[in-house]
Amino acid sequence: MKLNIAVLQGDGIGPEVTAQAVKVLKAVAMEFNHIFTFQKALVGASAIDKTGNPLPEETISICKKADAVLFGAIGDTKYDEDPDAKIRPEQGLLGIRKELGLYTNIRPIIAYEDLLNKSSLKVKQIKDTNILIYRELTGGIYFGDRYLSDDGNIASDVCKYERFEIERIAHLAFKAALSRKRKLTLVDKANVLESSRLWRRVVKEIAPQYPNVKVNFMYIDNAAMELIIHPRQFDVILTENMFGDILSEEASVIVGSIGLLASASIGDKHAMFEPIHGAYAKAANRGVANPIASILSAAMLLDHFGLYEEAALVREGVDKSLKLHITTPDLNNKYDNITTTKVGDFIEDFIQNPDETNLN
Ligand code: IPM
Repeated sequence: MKLNIAVLQGDGIGPEVTAQAVKVLKAVAMEFNHIFTFQKALVGASAIDKTGNPLPEETISICKKADAVLFGAIGDTKYDEDPDAKIRPEQGLLGIRKELGLYTNIRPIIAYEDLLNKSSLKVKQIKDTNILIYRELTGGIYFGDRYLSDDGNIASDVCKYERFEIERIAHLAFKAALSRKRKLTLVDKANVLESSRLWRRVVKEIAPQYPNVKVNFMYIDNAAMELIIHPRQFDVILTENMFGDILSEEASVIVGSIGLLASASIGDKHAMFEPIHGAYAKAANRGVANPIASILSAAMLLDHFGLYEEAALVREGVDKSLKLHITTPDLNNKYDNITTTKVGDFIEDFIQNPDETNLN
């Protein structure tokens, strides 16, 4: 298969972790006779530094022409500390999601057997957790009207949803549930928010089309607690943009490190694959960033194009690296010399020689 992949490395640890995912994809292409080409483009704080724009036109055009986008990370502390900054790196990520129409963000939350003791939660609580979060990505409060009064004392952000925005992601979430444990939980705040009540109404209306999926509804505050106390009760979680952002980051506690969480952002025409972690400028260029989230995002890219065997091999490589403690310091107290690149090299080696790769 021929794939043209746009690579938006972004900021902080973005370039380092993305380089490992590209390395792994190149190894896959080699072993399975595919032709993957990679084209880099600017986004985020690094794009602001070079062009004054977090999402240059050229980047949008490269991404629109590509078969898929591999995204790194975005953000810079100098903007975090300045609430008055009008141009912000995050606009690059939000802009590309909107431009490409990536309305469904899929975030798998899996408690790896070999990492159960890395979580701050009890092993018996988290064992066998396997959740798929379907986060709406191009609507809600992230994209609603914003207002700041002239005197700077009043501000508002509107959370708005239209029926079609809920329907399209809900159908995908129901279909995903059908191929799993057939349970879908809609997380909302329908006891307070009108937009949440619309979500509930629409999901209830769609549910009869999927009679084999058991649907339940949970308020976000309760879900935040249940996710930590009884994560195994969840199969597919469907939720709006901001609740999905918060819940998925919370779920990283179950997995042991946010450096493990991958995601796929899917629209009708385009698809982008990105770790859920941020840019962590403090960790940049020290070789300590965990590349697994980026590598697993590449595996989701392969799955998206039906390259299931290839994706499975990448995941096997990741599993083996975890088993052998070939992991960066966020997960490793056994070896302190395993760098970002070493993890990528190990998984690359595994893809080239699945039967022989061991710690050396
Ligand atoms: C994520 C991030 C982004 C979001 C930020 C960087 C805009 O936290 O992908 O989860 O909030 O969507």
